Parts: sequence; C-alpha cells; structure tokens
Amino acid sequence: MDISGLDPDRIPAHVACVMDGNGRWAQQRGLKRTDGHSAGEEALLDAIHGALDLGISWLTVYAFSTENWRRPTDEVRFLMGFNESLLVRRRDELHELGVRIRFIGRRDWRVPKRLLKQMDRSVDLTKHNARMTLTIAFNYGGRAELVDAVKSLVDEGAKLSESAIASRLYDPEMPEVDLWIRTSGEHRISNFLIWQAAYAELVFVETLWPDFRREHLAVAVGEYQQRDRRFGGLKSQS
Ligand code: IPE
Ligand code: IPE
Ligand code: MG
Repeated sequence: MDISGLDPDRIPAHVACVMDGNGRWAQQRGLKRTDGHSAGEEALLDAIHGALDLGISWLTVYAFSTENWRRPTDEVRFLMGFNESLLVRRRDELHELGVRIRFIGRRDWRVPKRLLKQMDRSVDLTKHNARMTLTIAFNYGGRAELVDAVKSLVDEGAKLSESAIASRLYDPEMPEVDLWIRTSGEHRISNFLIWQAAYAELVFVETLWPDFRREHLAVAVGEYQQRDRRFGGLKSQS
C-alpha cells in the first residue's frame, strides 16, 4: 500500500464504506450475482488490513440495508447465510488482529436467529479489543435508526435535542464519520449513516467492491486529506 504520500497526523478516525457493485462485478464475468457477494469477502478483509495499517480507529461497512429485503428471495437468503458463515470463518482472525466487532441495524424477525447468534458471539469474543472497531451495518437504515432513536426518547418523555438523539442511535459511542466512501460509481447515499455523516467528506470510487483493495482505501484517504473541512465555519480546522 502506498501510504508514503499520506499525512500521518490527518488520518480519518472514522471511515464508512458502502460496499457496492458486487452484482455488476459478477455479471461482467458471466457469474451469478451471489458470486459477486462471495468475492466481496476478500475485498473486505483487505480493506480491514489497510485500515489497520493506516491507523484508522473506526471502520463501518454497509452489508445489508433495510431496503435490501426488496431483492429476490434467493439473493436475500444467500446474503443471510453468507454473512453468518463469514463471521464464523473470519472472527478468530479479526480477534487476533485486535479488531472489535460491532453491529448496527434492526434486529427484527426477518433476520435469522442463527445469524443473530453468530453476531452476538462475534461481538462478545472481540469486545475487549482496542485497535480498531469494525461496525457492520446489517438490516441498517439511517431513517429507521432515527425513528428508533426518537421513539425511545418520546416513550420516556425525554426532551428532544441533537445530543439526546445522538445518545439513542444504535451505537452511541460511534464517532461522527470523517470519510464516507462508496464504490461502484454510484453517487448515492442510500440511507447509510445519514445522521453520523452530516459533515463527512464523501468520496466516490469507480471500482466495484470485489476489486477494492487497501490501495484504494489509501487513495481515498489521500483525497480526504486534500479537502478543507470547514464545518460551516470559514477556516480549516487543522
Ligand atoms: C452490494 O452490491 C452488496 C449489497 C447490497 C448486499 P450489489 O448487490 O448492490 O451490487 P450491484 O449494485 O447490483 O452491482
Ligand atoms: C447499498 O447498496 C446497500 C449496501 C451496499 C449494503 P444498494 O445497491 O442496495 O443501493 P441502491 O439500491 O443502489 O441505492
Ligand atoms: Mg448495489
């Protein structure tokens, strides 16, 4: 990975990534869409290694959206099984790397019990790790997250404020997103971290997710470092 040109003092603390383009990657090769999802596993692991090398503390990836239930039943079923087996296959390796695994999203009846069990096991196994937090957004939607947060405040009769809402998001410890990446050339947010990414720097890359590697992450961080973050003010904060 070429990190020589990067400023070690301006590494984004929280990088979020929409892992998009698996279906197109497979179609281009005459394969099934689900083969594209399988090929995304290597991309994810490489991106995690890249994030660790760069010293990124929070990496959040979009694995299944609240809208992805609209896909054909076979694809949805595949994704449930695939995510379950990926956790079983990879969690020991991630644990050894010092990665703390967390999940954000709705734990509703549509998510298979056996997947929920593996999610809980992965969280429990890695809960004391401190090198990097890998958050997997599963059955996640930013709007659903805000509705759930506001509902819990309303149920308690609590006062609504930005900090009150932030404290009721799926992971209140999650810091705001610094760098928000989407692969596959789509220029859409698709309901990913709409609250946490309010002031994120958005980087869109043409690469389809299964071809994404740590080098692409380093390039995105390089682009991030060129940006002047103003947060509504006038001068760069750095
Ligand atoms: C992203 O790849 C993975 C999920 C949404 C689960 P897609 O499956 O959306 O791939 P494209 O966008 O159809 O190419
Ligand atoms: C967003 O990608 C969700 C994930 C990557 C998990 P989609 O492929 O579902 O988004 P749209 O439909 O192109 O907006
Ligand atoms: Mg897509």
